[in-house]
Amino acid sequence: MTTDNQDHSAQTEIYQPPARLVNPEGGREKPWVSSMAEYEAMYNESINEPTKFWTRTANEMLTWDKPFTHVSHGSLKEGNMAWFPDGQLNVSYNCVDRWAMKDPNRIAFVYEADEPGQATNVTYGELLSQVCSLANVLSSFGLRKGDTVAIYMPMIPEAAVAMLACARLGLIHTVVFAGFSSSSLAERVADARARVVITADEGLRGSRPIRTKAIVDEAIQSCPEVEKVLVFRRTGNESVPFNAPRDVWWHEAVAAQRPYCPPVPVNAEDPLFLLYTSGSTGKPKGVVHTSGGYLLGAALTLKYVFDIHDNDVFCCTADIGWITGHSYVVYGPLALGSTSVIFESVPTYPDASRYWKLVEDHKITQFYTAPTAIRALRRHGDDFVTKCDLSSLRVIGSVGEPINPDAWTWYNEVVGGSRCAVVDTYWQTETGSHVITPLPGATPAKPGSATFPFFGVELAILDPTTGAELEGNDVSGVLAIKRPWPSMARTIAGDHKRFLETYLKPYPGYYFAGDGASRDADGYYWIRGRVDDVINVSGHRMSTAEVESALIGHHAVAESAVVGAPDELTGQAICAFVTLKDGFEANDTLKSELVKEVRTRIGPIATPKTLILVDELPKTRSGKIIRRILRKVVAGEADQLGDLSTLSDPSILEILIREVSLSL
Ligand code: WTA
Repeated sequence: MTTDNQDHSAQTEIYQPPARLVNPEGGREKPWVSSMAEYEAMYNESINEPTKFWTRTANEMLTWDKPFTHVSHGSLKEGNMAWFPDGQLNVSYNCVDRWAMKDPNRIAFVYEADEPGQATNVTYGELLSQVCSLANVLSSFGLRKGDTVAIYMPMIPEAAVAMLACARLGLIHTVVFAGFSSSSLAERVADARARVVITADEGLRGSRPIRTKAIVDEAIQSCPEVEKVLVFRRTGNESVPFNAPRDVWWHEAVAAQRPYCPPVPVNAEDPLFLLYTSGSTGKPKGVVHTSGGYLLGAALTLKYVFDIHDNDVFCCTADIGWITGHSYVVYGPLALGSTSVIFESVPTYPDASRYWKLVEDHKITQFYTAPTAIRALRRHGDDFVTKCDLSSLRVIGSVGEPINPDAWTWYNEVVGGSRCAVVDTYWQTETGSHVITPLPGATPAKPGSATFPFFGVELAILDPTTGAELEGNDVSGVLAIKRPWPSMARTIAGDHKRFLETYLKPYPGYYFAGDGASRDADGYYWIRGRVDDVINVSGHRMSTAEVESALIGHHAVAESAVVGAPDELTGQAICAFVTLKDGFEANDTLKSELVKEVRTRIGPIATPKTLILVDELPKTRSGKIIRRILRKVVAGEADQLGDLSTLSDPSILEILIREVSLSL
């Protein structure tokens, strides 16, 4: 847990919304919400008169083919939530056609390619043609509403085109982060029953090629259901494998299609996408998001949390393989008809000025990134930032993990020049869009706190053991949400039981987020980190069980236990404890082999930072590994191990502590 902010709470310095935002000059519009009183009025309406609030916002933000007559149905208790259930719409129409018809020259995407100085724009008019042509290609493959398509692509506009082409036909997409290994990709493609995979010949990150097509080929060897692989030519490397007729070149296929395709209206509750995320067990879960509620959540939060107005240029640095990329690179910005920057490269290529140069070159008005990037760039020194002109910025955001107050302050002062609002947005793959967040023109910020709930989100802090709701301020416990909201996940693909058991059954009547949290004396919310077996490495969720099963897959490994260790740069780092089978010798070669095993099985993001070979793991008498002890030891809190009465062999503790101190 990143607990750097644990003791700041109520006494922290408070930062008022910057005056130039609340009372703008030069003819700029006022923020959508410009005082706490306004926020409270809107929030109270969303809670006390939800039908009125959601009817208005859903009609204001979205265009419906068939208007809904009913706002919501179902309850958290029963797990049968539905929003706007009799409404029909098309997500790609909402994201593309509406703006292309009004002003085809408006810029939808600014594409900042890996190599600096090669940026290009995609207008809404161009986007419409590209989405339509590709949708016609997908139709020609025989895909129909409800079928699933996997997308394994670099950060290029075509990745968004692929998502929108699916949405146009009512196909369900599942984007897999292109840093995942072939076996992780295979697992997801098979679970989603995707019949088509869309990819690129190669990706490019910091001038290094990523073998996307070759990885897809390896993956689908174990996915017989895949009929077609559509390949976008990104680098043109001729040695990339290509097996016609299964493989089809994107440019050839779209050239044969008409660049218009009528959008297929879908029900608001029809799935828009699956997105796999790690849970407490080894198998990633395919979180299901629907069309109407999800799109409304993405659009509404983006509008209010980043205070988007006409002519703004919004930049979210997340990869489209994560929920942040879905909601805030693609769906949110396009549903508002805004301009979104697609960034293909890495923040340190060619040097640590890349983000800030990006802001200067494209006059970015809102910038959204992760604490891990902020911490890493801060290490390079202020000059990389201050030499760029960042005066276009108004709102800067953070997401993915708790941001430590030091990093917050640096972000605010050096990047924001103390002239911008900083929004620390808390949410999850499952929530679809922000659930706890400041509003830039209204909320006085406390560094390290995500502040207050977004509209329609009713929060609770529960006693973790009794499940009782802790009323009033100055309380700590687990975070829960008391009523359904439109963009929440509806189920896990093929496993509704797991959905109920993970989120809705632990505390009946509540959505259980899996995070610890407190509400300070002023009512501000502070997220304390995961309370389950999920580790957060650089804002990426990894399940300890997934890493453990990758390790156990190696023939030398008897048992393994994986925990998160505090890490200055990545928030948490993966620390793996391994015991070997008889006959295997503990040495450095074997250790690096095991680390490599995890990289190949899951992907580089799952690389253990520390791997410790031990003779024994701490266990209960019934043989269960006590991870709590390992977590404490790696956090340097071996003096606070708590109740050890269940530990079967206390003598191993001393050895364990010594091993850890030698390795960390
Ligand atoms: C963590 C990313 C503190 C949290 C959008 C959550 C945060 C998990 C914050 C979801 C934040 C995300 N402050 N913690 N502002 N934002 N988290 O599904 O533990 O990749 O449960 O979604 O990230 O990660 P996910």
